Amino acid sequence: YVIGIDLGTSAVKILLVNQNGEVCQEVSKSYPLIIEKSGYSEQNPEEWVEKTSEGLAELIGKFSGNVKNIQGISFSGQMHGLVLLDQDHKVLRNAILWNDTRTTKQCQEIYDVVGKERLLEVTKNPALEGFTLPKILWVKENEPEIFARSSVFMLPKDYLRYRMTGNIHMDYSDAAGTLMLNVAKREWSSEILNLLDISPDFCPPLVESHECVGTISAELANATGLTEATKVFAGGADNACGAIGSGILSAGKTLSSIGTSGVVLSYEDRNDLDFEGKVHYFNHGEEDTYYTMGVTLAAGYSLSWFKDTFGHQEEFDQFLEGVDTVPVGANGLLFTPYIVGERTPHADSNIRGSFIGIDASHERKHFARSVLEGITFSLNESIEIFRKSGKTIDSVISIGGGAKNETWLQMQADIFDAKIEKLSSEQGPGMGAAMLAAYGCGWFASLKECAEEFIQTSKTYYPIKENVEAYKKLFAIYQQVYTQTKVLND
Ligand code: XUL
Repeated sequence: YVIGIDLGTSAVKILLVNQNGEVCQEVSKSYPLIIEKSGYSEQNPEEWVEKTSEGLAELIGKFSGNVKNIQGISFSGQMHGLVLLDQDHKVLRNAILWNDTRTTKQCQEIYDVVGKERLLEVTKNPALEGFTLPKILWVKENEPEIFARSSVFMLPKDYLRYRMTGNIHMDYSDAAGTLMLNVAKREWSSEILNLLDISPDFCPPLVESHECVGTISAELANATGLTEATKVFAGGADNACGAIGSGILSAGKTLSSIGTSGVVLSYEDRNDLDFEGKVHYFNHGEEDTYYTMGVTLAAGYSLSWFKDTFGHQEEFDQFLEGVDTVPVGANGLLFTPYIVGERTPHADSNIRGSFIGIDASHERKHFARSVLEGITFSLNESIEIFRKSGKTIDSVISIGGGAKNETWLQMQADIFDAKIEKLSSEQGPGMGAAMLAAYGCGWFASLKECAEEFIQTSKTYYPIKENVEAYKKLFAIYQQVYTQTKVLND
């Protein structure tokens, strides 16, 4: 057996997976976001450790086999979040998360000091509020006494792994989202660190995602029932792991994944393509390969915001009842999901969302459908960027919230104008983490081989021509909303 731990934004999800790729046990433990001010988003790293430890103990408690047969553990983690540690490796402040947008000024500073073009050349990515480097600069400027005491920074799942093993590392796929990694050379960029006056010691040693970086500490073994012999593998960024867990391991494969954020992700076997920074370009969790992706900041988050505000305690299935009876275009109602700003294609943390075209005949189900459509239009902006760059996208694997609802799956086929494939047992990033452990343990010669064994598709949704045409017109209107409403939030 292996264990995959997905340290997400709303919960940690832990999977126990056997040699056939079957999930034998599953536990999820949630934790809150700390939102002190509009645009802020933090979490207490201690909660990640506590909830994971509780979750592991519960998982082991339910497991009827011999724990000695659990050979390895690996991780998937929410990306970009800044965890700052002092010299004794104690946490100095709450983690500042990927969806925190307080760092617009620091992004500009990075451009001023490094230069936009040079930053793109080295890191392959633009300076965005969500990435780690601007967060480091924010702490340096706004909490100098905390910064002065810091000795190393970590990303969320790397901190969790440190607490489980006592060892400090970071893998390439997560390091790529810090804006301090030379993505093509796979090393910390001394140029960027020098220019921004950050010590190289501040950056953890880099490792491959499937690399063994230790074993379970005695303390954690005691708390959870795991054995100290269990090997711990580095793991990767949640988007890289989502891709691995969906078999996005060869050129031409595209993923649409809807969690709190939503991404459209495409496998790349080269590191020298130029997307002008319009999509993110990161190292994959597989050695020497890459992926590009566009991000919708509030994808599932738009839907959960809408449900919590207008539907209260209902489950998603119940809440979405009736959306299939609402026609394409929600009878003239249009939603833009910019409720916490937007990444791709606008990279604008100030813009806010909208419902447009409200009619007295609209019911809650029309609003619900327009929220699904708005989220999908936002993802389609990324598909458009890929297509304009010359990629052919005729088939997309859908995972996450978007794959849990038949209407949403068909909607993706119609809006993306591509075949949508659903996986037979979809476990997302947690499965990618388990696959990294399985590969690390030597069960397979490659991640691809592991994917062939573990991942199957179950159902395909084909675009319906008249819906495709209708959505094309609506998408053109959707794209104008940003430009027309931007002024409201400037
Ligand atoms: C990617 C990003 C999000 C987080 C979610 O750049 O910020 O998708 O990884 O955990």
